[in-house]
Amino acid sequence: MRTPIIAGNWKMNMQLATAAELVTALKNDLAPLAASNQVEIVLCPPFVYLPRVAELVQGTRIGVGAQNMYFESKGAFTGEIAPAMVADFAQYVIIGHSERRQYFHETDESVNKKIRAALAQNLKPIVCVGEALETYEMGETDIWVRGQIHGAFKDLTAAEARALIVAYEPIWAIGTGKAATGAGANAVIGISIRGALTDLYGEAVAQAVRVQYGGSVTAKNIDEFIVQPDIDGALVGGASLKADEFSAICRAGLKKFE
Ligand code: 13P
Repeated sequence: MRTPIIAGNWKMNMQLATAAELVTALKNDLAPLAASNQVEIVLCPPFVYLPRVAELVQGTRIGVGAQNMYFESKGAFTGEIAPAMVADFAQYVIIGHSERRQYFHETDESVNKKIRAALAQNLKPIVCVGEALETYEMGETDIWVRGQIHGAFKDLTAAEARALIVAYEPIWAIGTGKAATGAGANAVIGISIRGALTDLYGEAVAQAVRVQYGGSVTAKNIDEFIVQPDIDGALVGGASLKADEFSAICRAGLKKFE
């Protein structure tokens, strides 16, 4: 069985004090769940708060992730953060979020480079894929998402592929309050994402890779996603900024064991 994984992507939110408040509350709320090791929990704050969040979760099983990183290892890249810098504080890194692709011109090629650079530092990449509204409405989600998977996993070995976590985040569902349906997300993940992984690596790897759903996930709708056979957790934006809301979403991961 694949271990469910719930990650909170804070995006460009919080400040030092509010971040500490949130993590302290989550630590209390989630102590038993984190200790049980049944659900993997990851917090992805902005870069500058990684050290503080890492310090606060020390001694718990709550993981820390960055929201991005550069693929070069060091040098004259003003404003960028190297994989080894992320690895000083975090175990995970979100790569290729649609907001990075849309506003910061990331491509399947740069996503692939970042994945390889992350793996070289033993970081676990959370690789985001998902289609725009127009693609969805034209019925081209399958071909689009398969293309993103092929681009992201290009030249990765089967062993490397197994280490990746994929997040299916339809762009039209992000921050809109209009989540996909559980069945709809499950179909894209089961058919398009695991299908592309089967083409690349065969059935065993395709079944081993964990795939999250993301896009307007809340404590109210998480059950609809978590009960789906091909969905292994959630990548949560807005709802990860509230302790009670995110804790409830994490606890819903236990539904996988019912
Ligand atoms: P929301 O949960 O705010 O829709 O954001 C989803 C997301 O983009 C997580 O990476």
